[in-house]
Amino acid sequence: MNLNLETERLILRPFSEDDASLLFELNNDEDVTRYTGQGAYKNIEEALEFVKGYKQYENYSMGRLNVFIKDTREYIGWSGLQYLKAINEVDIGYRLIKKYWGKGYATEASKACLDYGFNTLKLDKIIRTAMKANIASINVFNKLGLKYSHDDDCGQQPGVVYTITKEEWK
Ligand SMILES: CC(C)(COP(=O)(O)OP(=O)(O)OC[C@H]1O[C@@H](n2cnc3c(N)ncnc32)[C@H](O)[C@@H]1OP(=O)(O)O)[C@@H](O)C(=O)NCCC(=O)NCCS
Repeated sequence: MNLNLETERLILRPFSEDDASLLFELNNDEDVTRYTGQGAYKNIEEALEFVKGYKQYENYSMGRLNVFIKDTREYIGWSGLQYLKAINEVDIGYRLIKKYWGKGYATEASKACLDYGFNTLKLDKIIRTAMKANIASINVFNKLGLKYSHDDDCGQQPGVVYTITKEEWK
């Protein structure tokens, strides 16, 4: 499976061990991790351990993908699918460096990932949980065509689950 995706403005590709410092910097901002249930990595080595242990690509032919602006090659964050073994579902996620928020990048990158999930992997359904307070993320769900399914805790916070099916994506 080719996990290198492209949109009008962006390129997406799997994490590599060389990306540890990018992931470290991304998470090293409380505004970025506020609604994610994750904090900063202690150091670049911890980010590297995460990349080395990340087996989504080989196990499930999907995964979070690092996102770069096509024209300038600037790193802006990640977006992508992830298989959640505990609930046997695939989710869509995104996390961007603050200065790139509000430009439609999360929506654009996620569309390519949903397309990959439904058209290449032939998935039936993709889901996402967000904290209710994460208005920006819920706006992205709506722009992608995900629909509210039910309330569920997101970490220790009140959350919402949104879903989209193959038929709804078409
Ligand atoms: C969530 C996130 C990826 C959105 O990225 P983005 O590139 O700004 O998203 P988009 O520009 O595609 O769309 C965001 C929409 O929400 C709106 N928005 C952004 N912040 C908002 C806020 N605080 N309140 C209300 N609306 C907001 C934007 O205006 C935009 O809507 P519009 O296109 O109708 O104007 C980004 O905020 C982020 O990385 N947050 C930190 C990580 C995170 O929370 N990830 C999701 C976990 S579930």
